[in-house]
Amino acid sequence: MKPFGQTPEGRTARLFTLQNARGFRAEISDYGGTVVRLWAPDRRGEFGDVALGFDSVEGYAAHTAYFGALIGRHGNRIAHGKFSLDGKTHSLALNNAPGGIPCHLHGGTRGFDKVLWAADPLRTADGEALRLRYRSADGEENYPGTLDVEVVYTVLADDALRIDYAATTDRATIVNLTNHTYFNLAGAGGGDVLGHELQLLASRYTPVNAGLIPLGELAPVAGTPLDFRAPRTIGERIDAADEQLRRAGGYDHNFVLDRAAASPALAALVHEPQSGRRLEVLTTEPGVQFYSGNFLDGTLAGKGGQRYPKRSGFCLETQHFPDAPNQPLFPTTALRPGETRRSTTIYRFSVA
Ligand code: GLA
Repeated sequence: MKPFGQTPEGRTARLFTLQNARGFRAEISDYGGTVVRLWAPDRRGEFGDVALGFDSVEGYAAHTAYFGALIGRHGNRIAHGKFSLDGKTHSLALNNAPGGIPCHLHGGTRGFDKVLWAADPLRTADGEALRLRYRSADGEENYPGTLDVEVVYTVLADDALRIDYAATTDRATIVNLTNHTYFNLAGAGGGDVLGHELQLLASRYTPVNAGLIPLGELAPVAGTPLDFRAPRTIGERIDAADEQLRRAGGYDHNFVLDRAAASPALAALVHEPQSGRRLEVLTTEPGVQFYSGNFLDGTLAGKGGQRYPKRSGFCLETQHFPDAPNQPLFPTTALRPGETRRSTTIYRFSVA
């Protein structure tokens, strides 16, 4: 455990290292529950950091790229920042405006990525772990109910980082938790991700309007540049003349996973041919937001002064679908007293 800088509130953030016997390791901060570094071997056995991020908490506090962070209460977009629950309408911060259309994004102006979590390192039968807990007060960011969240990161023997999420409330509320790590399997700072090969186990996705809010339908990927059922490079069709890609400036879409499962099922596979690194994503969640880093523009000074140009990292944010509180056909994100919302996501590394 090392100090990781001061939060804007003057509190000291810390950085914890979780490691397995083979040397695969994750460095995670209690600020935002952020995955700061992920060290995975390439085909020559050389370890490289495959996550984008900053050297200390000051960078994370100053920017809204959501590098590596835990996202809550409600990940992704909520149209007009409004939702109704049990007959009452709630208004959330409008902190994002794609296409000039304001919406609520990733929990608001001070979401779970910008708070200090209580952290306890644990030694479990599965491997070294970090338990993070955060109590979000009733009315925080205008969400109803006191929400208790526990997230456990575990580094597994097979070079995987597992994330177990659990949330409970004392009043009806909404919750959609995820992690926002940007990966570059060639090594963070190593150029764009357009040559990465991606496979998504999703036959459908949720098409969006100009404000990146779902239209409400689950549309087939067949015949579109969003078809990743067989592996394709991220770059091959990213600039195709397609209305969905144009609206998002590339890929920034929620994919409906074919196998919703009680135990984590394979959702995505990524392979970077130069390094040989592979990433498998398994989840219990019904969806995954594939974001190709379109808003990165090389201006942020990342770890070691690295610049992160456009599309130099990709995210696979496992989640319930965007705008779920306003979409009757989507799996609900409502959570009521007495219930526990649980999910598990695994990021597993190997070489091809
Ligand atoms: C999510 C959104 C993107 C973008 C990033 C952060 O992935 O879907 O549109 O806002 O967060 O830059």
